[in-house]
Amino acid sequence: MTSLTGSASYQALAAHRRSLEGFSILSALANEVGRLDRMRMRHEDLLVDTSKSLATTETLTLLLALARERGLPARIEAMFRGDKINVTENRAVLHVALRNLSDRPILVDGEDVMPGVRAVLAKIRAFVSSVHDGSFRGATGEKITDIVNIGIGGSDLGPFMVCEALEPYWHAGIRPHFVSNVDGAHLGRTLKTLRRETTLFVVASKTFTTQETITNAQSARAWLVGNEIDPGLGEAAVQKHFVAVSTNAKEVSAFGIDVANMFEFWDWVGGRYSLWSAIGLSIALTVGMDHFMALLEGGHVMDEHFRTTPLEENIPTLLGLLGVWHAHFWDAHTFAVLPYDQSMHRFAAWLQQGDMESNGKSVTLAGEKVDAPTGPVVWGEPGTNGQHAFYQLIHQGTRLVPCDFLAPTRTYYPMGEHHAILLANVIAQSEALARGKNIDEVRAELGKSGMAKDEIEALAPHKVFSGNRPSNVLLFDRVDPRTLGKILALYEHRILVQGVIFGVNSFDQWGVELGKQLAKSVLAELRGGAPGAHDASTRALIAEVRSRRE
Ligand code: F6P
Repeated sequence: MTSLTGSASYQALAAHRRSLEGFSILSALANEVGRLDRMRMRHEDLLVDTSKSLATTETLTLLLALARERGLPARIEAMFRGDKINVTENRAVLHVALRNLSDRPILVDGEDVMPGVRAVLAKIRAFVSSVHDGSFRGATGEKITDIVNIGIGGSDLGPFMVCEALEPYWHAGIRPHFVSNVDGAHLGRTLKTLRRETTLFVVASKTFTTQETITNAQSARAWLVGNEIDPGLGEAAVQKHFVAVSTNAKEVSAFGIDVANMFEFWDWVGGRYSLWSAIGLSIALTVGMDHFMALLEGGHVMDEHFRTTPLEENIPTLLGLLGVWHAHFWDAHTFAVLPYDQSMHRFAAWLQQGDMESNGKSVTLAGEKVDAPTGPVVWGEPGTNGQHAFYQLIHQGTRLVPCDFLAPTRTYYPMGEHHAILLANVIAQSEALARGKNIDEVRAELGKSGMAKDEIEALAPHKVFSGNRPSNVLLFDRVDPRTLGKILALYEHRILVQGVIFGVNSFDQWGVELGKQLAKSVLAELRGGAPGAHDASTRALIAEVRSRRE
């Protein structure tokens, strides 16, 4: 494949960008025929409005040509077919199979994976109902009231984000907790709120070798079992208070969890795409199996949209392409995702792993250096909190930050004017970014306040907003399981689209390995082992920490 920047369609986009010098979002909104029709897309109750982009309808046509030239349709097909598109790990990429509620078989190495997927879902359903109806109880016969998910990365961010987002659906009598950080404060603070008799630990780890998760799980186990000073429930209780979610039965059993209490998934599920798998056990325990299935259904509906809708109307495709457009041709280095919904407060954190671990790459599938930027820095916080923190930079800083605003038009917490105020703010923010405020407007405004002319001239430049800053607005009825499933799948596919344009493998994560390796040797030295080969700075840091701990 030719390099990205060398491709004919990329060159055409570059020429098009030159022709857009002086482009104004507001003028385009006022004058471009068909802009709203083409740039606002609907799917059921979801409205995706990209009309405040630094793009024209012609830009979309050129971006779609790029997508075709980079082979997007074939790549989508290959993923859904079960081809091993994760070439560096020789694996299929089939989070879509986990939510394939159709009877379409999906083959890996000639074998349909769907019966296995369905069997695990049935096992999860049976377990969830046994916990909820009390037929599964703790070692002392008490009902389980607290679920502690111990996992990190994809084995934490997805389930945690979904449980938070679906708080109105929590099963009565069940409280979820999430422990990820190896910092003992995370587990310690959580345990302080719990009783052993009523707590179930879900150890979630694809590999079951992740240092943080195993360390936390061992400490949780020690807390449960107890000791002479702090008597717990004893070794035999482990089987009643620990279950595992993993692809690695050997390590699960070595840890001391009965493999009968293990919920399986497969190597073709990437960690950051795994909330739909048995990694979602904590979700199912928290919101119930029917709501978990509704989440999967939402994901499936978006999969079908992505798989079968022509690129021109394909929502993840257009969002992904516009993201590339702003990054490559308008110099945006970051991407802010801003849900106006408090329950989605972990959404940006989840997407950060999804996007940055997937597309934070520098070599192409062929192992050559990429010749243009790959994935952006993804960040965000819920509105309106972010408005009082970092929006200053988004409005007046020197960097262009494309924003996705997400907002449900209905709330589970109707309270006076709260929701109207929230919605007014999200709409106003996207308007303000596009519109800005010029110096004449500022002068007129200040003039009305009776300020002296020289004071106005001194202050005015500080109050100017350049405007012409792009944002998308995604509106939907409410954050219910099905809608959430759709939104999550949409953003997952947006990642694939961009990865295909960049020409990278979005499904490996070798970049996390070096730090893990070095941490092992540093730990050995902190424990008193012989000094390893380090640079002078690292050697000094190790010595400093050792001396402070002695
Ligand atoms: O950070 C690297 C990573 O492998 C992620 O991709 C993954 O989600 C996380 O670690 C946790 O891995 P595991 O589920 O195997 O414990």
